[in-house]
Amino acid sequence: MSKTRVLTGITTTGTPHLGNYLGAIRPAVQASRDHSLSSFFFLADFHALIKCHDPARVAQSTREIAATWLALGMDYNNAVFYRQSDIPEIPELTWVLTCLCSKGLMNRAHAYKAAVDENRNANKADLDDGVTMGLFSYPVLMAADILMFNGQKIPVGKDQIQHIEMARDIAGRFNHTFADLFTLPEAMVDENPLTISGLDGRKMSKSYDNTIPLFCSSDELRKLINQIHTDLREPGEPKDPDNSTIFELYSLFATDEEADAFRAKFFEGIAWGDAKTELFEYLDNYLSGPRARYNELMNDLGSLEQILKQGAEKARGYSVPLLQQVRESVGIRALDSTAAFGGEKKKKEKSAEQIAEEVERKKRASLMYILKPMLERVENAEDSAAEAKALIEEKEQKLLTLKKKTKQKAENELTLLKEELAQYL
Ligand code: TRP
Repeated sequence: MSKTRVLTGITTTGTPHLGNYLGAIRPAVQASRDHSLSSFFFLADFHALIKCHDPARVAQSTREIAATWLALGMDYNNAVFYRQSDIPEIPELTWVLTCLCSKGLMNRAHAYKAAVDENRNANKADLDDGVTMGLFSYPVLMAADILMFNGQKIPVGKDQIQHIEMARDIAGRFNHTFADLFTLPEAMVDENPLTISGLDGRKMSKSYDNTIPLFCSSDELRKLINQIHTDLREPGEPKDPDNSTIFELYSLFATDEEADAFRAKFFEGIAWGDAKTELFEYLDNYLSGPRARYNELMNDLGSLEQILKQGAEKARGYSVPLLQQVRESVGIRALDSTAAFGGEKKKKEKSAEQIAEEVERKKRASLMYILKPMLERVENAEDSAAEAKALIEEKEQKLLTLKKKTKQKAENELTLLKEELAQYL
């Protein structure tokens, strides 16, 4: 049995933070090392253009994300790790799919609807204010990302489930219209997604500006951890570990025993400053190995580029032949191509001619059953030719007296009879 193909993309707009690590990067790195899976991971830099028009930021985020994933042990020999924009087949497939995708489907996309709702709430006259075609049709690009590599399981957050459904829909439509080229993808959603608290206690998120970057310097890490909000309990006063971002972050990285020991210190009244120091030391130690590798990669962007280029080559081993099939099947072909592909092939399998032929064969078989005694009569007659002519005449006469429906049937009979008796007539 072939391996399950897992595929996911990471939009390159931000700097990876602890929340990204725990929620998406760590599980993906684990999957990349699993030899029972066929994993595809890519930097979705075309997607970045949808929300970010700051070229320096897109470029820098792409470097940072690539270096982060590799520093954390992404197995790029086992998995295919590439940059979306290195695969020219993706935008090309996007166009083909765009031509199949109904506008109505895109009208229902969450991201677009949210933008429209925002405009409505702000009483804007133009509900599409600020909506680019990129934002509007972005689920089609995402469908192309997935279908280009026949991704089967797509690990995504809940907010992306709709896009996977849309990719299925679009794939089905292509398969039906042209040729069965695409696997229908399925979303793989973690039912209990990890949300981790940021510096201010709200969910750690770029948009709240409350994140701890995964690979900031030790000094920066200490500074940020010192900013974590705490309550006003004095040193010596027992503290609630389950309402503390410090404890939460610690326990997400530590082993169970380490977390239990830290929890006990909260009950014993550890000072907030000391708790922060412990968290800092734990994280700094945990991250120091990968951080060193990260810095090495960030200081050797040529090698990083090389790794991505190799990944792209591997990925194009899949995308180039599949896109060729897509082109052929929709009719984008060399002028002298005689390929009858996809849709035509499909139709050919059940072309009108073939269906007619099949029906004809069946009809003939059942009519023969009726005609058999007549044919025998002719064959056994002394003058077969005279008998045949007489029979045909008799039938032709009868035809004149018949009504439409029965007439058709008799006509069919007669035609067949004439064919069968052709040698005598
Ligand atoms: N849109 C996804 C996100 O914002 C990223 C992404 C782009 C993606 N292409 C993809 C995820 C294909 C899975 C498959 O999270």
